[in-house]
Amino acid sequence: MSRLSLEVSDVRAEALDVLLVELRRAGGGALEPFTPGAHLEIELPNGAIRHYSLTNDWRERDRYVIGVGRAANGRGGSDFIHQSLRRGAMLISSPPRNNFALDLEAASHLFVAGGIGVTPIMSMVRRCEAEGRDWRLVYAARNAQRAAFYETLRGFGDKVRFHFDDQAGTVLDARRWLAERPDGQHVYCCGPQPLMRAVREAASHHPAQSVHFEYFVAPAAEPPGEAADAVPRPGEFRVELRRSGLSLVVPADRSILEVLEANGVKVPFSCREGLCRTCETTVCAGEVEHRDYVLSTEERAKSKTMMVCVSRARSPVLVLDR
Ligand code: FES
Repeated sequence: MSRLSLEVSDVRAEALDVLLVELRRAGGGALEPFTPGAHLEIELPNGAIRHYSLTNDWRERDRYVIGVGRAANGRGGSDFIHQSLRRGAMLISSPPRNNFALDLEAASHLFVAGGIGVTPIMSMVRRCEAEGRDWRLVYAARNAQRAAFYETLRGFGDKVRFHFDDQAGTVLDARRWLAERPDGQHVYCCGPQPLMRAVREAASHHPAQSVHFEYFVAPAAEPPGEAADAVPRPGEFRVELRRSGLSLVVPADRSILEVLEANGVKVPFSCREGLCRTCETTVCAGEVEHRDYVLSTEERAKSKTMMVCVSRARSPVLVLDR
């Protein structure tokens, strides 16, 4: 997998506990292009691997800008960036990947952002605005001091509605914004889990392909797309590997990825939570129980690939291209 060597060219505060980090190609030169909603998978000098959305204009080829919120219960990524990352530091990154793309066929776009979840949406807003697309943003934050891009977003007038918990005395009621959706509108949501869950529930009667989510932490509850009455988690099943010729049993308490690793089959991985697509594997035969957060409804239906770090089998045997 190709990796990029990036130099930190700027680090600055965007809001309370939110930093913007500007990255440029080490040694200069154009960067790989990206589309709004894309993210980078970055290897931090402290060994942590994290995914950060690109917030800048998709036409810029000389820099990537990511927004990093300080996580209250972080696992070392945001703390490191807030405390130790300085201009001139070198980072290794994946090329931009996009699991949260704008649907350019949509008649209009409703963005629902919570906290640092505004970062991918900022890039999407920039494109919609540049191309004259019909868009609206509802942006919730604990207070105005923590709202990243507050001044920029205020400049868009009525297209942006802010919700600040401290002023409203309560959290955003997502149902209100999704109650009456015009035909052809697509919804995009990124933010804390309670907000994502509320939007998912409020949009449950809308076509699944018109509602888009960006997860950076796996939800604690049922994965999205798995109905409450989905087939129960199966126990043991077998994977047959077409290229390596192995036939392996996957116990109920281990992932396919773990079993492959234990048997010497190398599979690239990063998040191990179904969030990044790094472990995506071609399915040759068998029925998959998808538990990831990146495949679209169509991709799930076709089931040509699966994320072996989290997804499992509904059939007794899965045949994989490994
Ligand atoms: S390792 Fe990230 S989706 Fe599997």
